Amino acid sequence: MRSIIEQGHTFEEWLTAGQIAADVKQVGQQIRRDYEDKEPLFVIVLNGAFVFAADLIRALDGLRCEQTFIRVSSYWGMSSTGQLEFIVPLQQVVENRDVIIVEDIVDTGLTIHQLKAHLRGLGASSVRVATMLFKSNKLEYEDAKPDYVGHEVTDEFVIGYGLDFDGFHRNLDAIYKVKK
Ligand code: IMP
Repeated sequence: MRSIIEQGHTFEEWLTAGQIAADVKQVGQQIRRDYEDKEPLFVIVLNGAFVFAADLIRALDGLRCEQTFIRVSSYWGMSSTGQLEFIVPLQQVVENRDVIIVEDIVDTGLTIHQLKAHLRGLGASSVRVATMLFKSNKLEYEDAKPDYVGHEVTDEFVIGYGLDFDGFHRNLDAIYKVKK
């Protein structure tokens, strides 16, 4: 089993690139079914979601859709600060659009809770959430429950496939879990 050591923590491979590809395909099929007669706008949450988003939009080859980006920050190291900061604000008009937020991971749900309120306030006609990972037992905001989930994960810190530890390891093609 592949493992990574970072700042004294050992991370072990948990989801292989092949398993991730199967999860992305399944999420893509659900979105295609739900949006075949719509023109969704994907709001991709930087930095972490860019890897998942790149695979997801190509799993939607042929669907008429647009993509835009937003960058928020709520995390330092391995613990949440509970504050959401808009580092790169939305560049695109979302009024009357069917928006799908693309996230790498939904943890407490604070990020999604605030983003949904932000997008609704800007007049989006619908806002749904697609995430690669969902820490369902940590969810604190009921309205942040994601609509499309690649894989559920228990309450361990994970890295790889866009997810970082202090900025590093986003480029791992598998997802690794911290060893307790
Ligand atoms: P939430 O606002 O508590 O749902 O946290 C969401 C954000 O926290 C994600 O977009 C990630 O940037 C970060 N995050 C939460 N859990 C992890 C993890 O296990 N590994 C890496 N980043 C994480």
